[in-house]
Amino acid sequence: MMDAISLLKDDHDAVEALLTELAESTSRAVKKRAELLEKIRVELKAHAMIEEEIFYPAFKAKGDRADDDKMYFEALEEHRAAGDLVLPDLLNTPVDSEKFSGRAKVLKELVKHHADEEEKEMFPRSKKLLSKDELAALGTRMAARKTELVKQLKSGVA
Ligand SMILES: [Fe+2]
Ligand SMILES: [Fe+2]
Repeated sequence: MMDAISLLKDDHDAVEALLTELAESTSRAVKKRAELLEKIRVELKAHAMIEEEIFYPAFKAKGDRADDDKMYFEALEEHRAAGDLVLPDLLNTPVDSEKFSGRAKVLKELVKHHADEEEKEMFPRSKKLLSKDELAALGTRMAARKTELVKQLKSGVA
């Protein structure tokens, strides 16, 4: 059984490592870039979806301050910026082009900023709003949902 916050933090570390590798790769490493990009696509989408379907609603339901709502809506907008705008743009950029590195770096910075905010603000606040048992139950649900989503994303269903 995995605590929700540990699960999400592990995801952050994994995706940040992949994004660093991508941003540091050269335009000659075409195959490597394509492979990394596909891994990032699957990881980022699965992560954002388990947060949006499971973690964020649980946070929102327990939140009782204006700041909690603000955090929730900001987080959703950051997912939208990274997942609906910057990631699709990067996926449409030829991996051997001049623009690729810059766009990969922008995605990396956006994701890092968002993950840092979650880790410094939303996650500590979640630990106050949700009990250990609730966080453990959310972790279990998210782990199961993530397995399902990764499978769908890899086969192009989601
Ligand atoms: Fe997030
Ligand atoms: Fe996250």
